[in-house]
Parts: sequence; structure tokens; C-alpha cells
Amino acid sequence: MSEIKTIVTIASHSALQIMKGAKQEGFRTALICLENRINVYTRFKHLIDNIFIIKEYSDIIRNETQKILLDLDAIIIPHGSFVEYIGIENLYKIESPIFGNRKLMEWEYDQWKKYELLKSAGISVPQVYNKLNDIDRLVIVKLPGAKGGRGYFLAMSKDELIMKAEKLNIDLSQAFIQEYIIGTPMYFHYFYSPIYDRLELLGSDIRYESDVDGLRRIPYNIVEPTFTVVGNIPVVLRESLLTQVFDYGEKFVKITKTKVPPGVIGPFCLEAVCRNDLKIVVFEFSGRIVAGTNLYIQGSPYSWLYFDEPMSMGRRIAREIKLAIENDALDKIIS
Ligand SMILES: Nc1ncnc2c1ncn2[C@@H]1O[C@H](COP(=O)(O)OP(=O)(O)O)[C@@H](O)[C@H]1O
Ligand SMILES: [Mg+2]
Repeated sequence: MSEIKTIVTIASHSALQIMKGAKQEGFRTALICLENRINVYTRFKHLIDNIFIIKEYSDIIRNETQKILLDLDAIIIPHGSFVEYIGIENLYKIESPIFGNRKLMEWEYDQWKKYELLKSAGISVPQVYNKLNDIDRLVIVKLPGAKGGRGYFLAMSKDELIMKAEKLNIDLSQAFIQEYIIGTPMYFHYFYSPIYDRLELLGSDIRYESDVDGLRRIPYNIVEPTFTVVGNIPVVLRESLLTQVFDYGEKFVKITKTKVPPGVIGPFCLEAVCRNDLKIVVFEFSGRIVAGTNLYIQGSPYSWLYFDEPMSMGRRIAREIKLAIENDALDKIIS
């Protein structure tokens, strides 16, 4: 294993937080950036030592780009846009080390596998319907590739579902149909440290989604709700909810160690709804940094309990890399 000197990511999602965190921990930094985004990222040159412009994201696997990254002794930090942009088929073609477990990113890409992993962990999940005839309550219909909640729709019954699918020209054999959980959506930001063998809760947020969160401004339900994320709002949990939140986090770490060895490394998020009986139901996970962590670039009420210094998720990642280097344990955090 060669040395690691530069923290690299794709210019999108949580890239600025990752760059800032890397600098705070003393690393060199680099961004891979599309031409049309350069205007944003060059404003933060003090955080970014190199910016490499690419034409399209899959250029990351071109020989020239790979060579640049290897010459920089780079470690790549995947984020929410990473697999989506470079393509799952390119994941294993990247020669530089990636922070985290590539195999878990593959699982995350598949709605059914993702759901099965949560369920077999013993985490509470919504009912999933494989047969339309079984639909007996409000459901949310998710389509592959409809990332960021775009293109999802709700239905109360089989008939309504078929009618809407026809109208939207949707192939239902590809649809993932889940019970719609009523309550407060909440997203928990965890960090599992293989170096400390410790699960940390570093923050939580509520996503502000268009138009489902804007509908309260309209007198009646005249618009079909949509779920496109437009921003994130901070939330601190009622302290008694932490019992479930830590229990679910531990369960997730355990199941990934068994089913997707070596298991989750670093940041992950459980995306959930807290029902009115205070039961938390998890509808999906992200096996990497989520954009809701951008709220806590100076640390959060939870990170402050672990660290006497501002600790963003981006910085926490860089800290883990630093600890791994110091302990000669890089193999524990990369894939
Ligand atoms: N089972 C569910 N019950 C209630 N709301 C849900 C459920 N599944 C998804 N949602 C809502 O839809 C949004 C997008 O769904 P999600 O499964 O996270 O898709 P994506 O992969 O696009 O992030 C969520 O943030 C949440 O607001
Ligand atoms: Mg989601």
C-alpha cells in the first residue's frame, strides 16, 4: 500500500465540507470537477489544492485521470453523487483506494437488496408489496433510477396505483412498492470507526422535499406530492429516541460485517420516519456521507459530545484516515 497524501472527491454534494475537513486535518486536497461547476469551486481555492476538469464523470476511469490520482497518492471519498455519476459498472475500475466499502455501495444501488439488508438486521422497516393484490394501505411507489425522490408517487389502492402508472407510462415490474409511513421523516448521521471500533452518532436532519413539504401552503390536496430534495433542516432528537437510534445503528454495523464484509466503514445514514407512537421505521440507508451533514460543518450537538473541537463529517473522515495512517491500519478503512 502506497502512502496517502491527498483527499479527493467529485465536485458536488458534500465536496466543500470534505475539502474543509481534509485541510483541517492537514491533508492536501483535490477535486474532480465538471466544467459547468467550476465557477462555484474556484471560489474556495484556499481549500482546494488541485482542481481537475473533466468532460463527463465517467472520465474518472480514463487512464490519464487515474494516473493523476495515483501520482497524487490520492484517497477518494465517495458521496451521494459519486456512484450515481460515475456509474456502478465503473466502481471497481478505479485504481486509487476508496474510503469505505465498495461492495456496500453496490448493495445500496439495488432497492431490494438494500431493503433486505435492513430487514435482516432486525431494524423496523415498512411493509413491501410484491403483489398488487396485497396492497391494503397508502403506498409509495419507487422506480429505479428515480434518484433524489424524483418520480415517486403515492397510491391508496391497487386500482389507483395502476391508473397512475398508466398515466405516467411506468413499467410496474420495475417498481418497488413500499408502505408509506406516516409521521416525521428523520435522517440519522452515523460514523462507524474501524480504528476505534466505535459507532458514533454525529448528527440528524430533516430533508426539505419539494413539493411534499410545501403542500401545507395549499388549502386542499390538489397537487400530487413529489419528493425531490431541495435542502436540509437541523433537528435534535428527543433524547429518549436515542435508544432506538443507537440500537438500529449497531444492528446495521453488525449485519454489514456479516453480509457485506468487512462491513460499513465511516459515514452512513439511516433514513426513517418517526411515527406518532415514537416508533422509528427505516425506509432506506445510505452507505456513505449524506448531504444533511453539510449542516454541521462546525460540528453538531452530538459531535460535541465526542470531540472537544468542531467535528464535521468531512473532518471526521479525514481524522479516521489520519488515525489509520498513524496506526499502520489503512487496510481497515479502504477498498
Ligand atoms: N416508506 C416511506 N414512508 C414515508 N415516506 C417515504 C418512504 N419512502 C420514501 N419516503 C419519502 O420519499 C423520499 C425519497 O425516498 P428514498 O427512498 O429515500 O429515495 P432516494 O433513493 O431517492 O433517496 C424520502 O426522503 C421520504 O420523504
Ligand atoms: Mg433517500
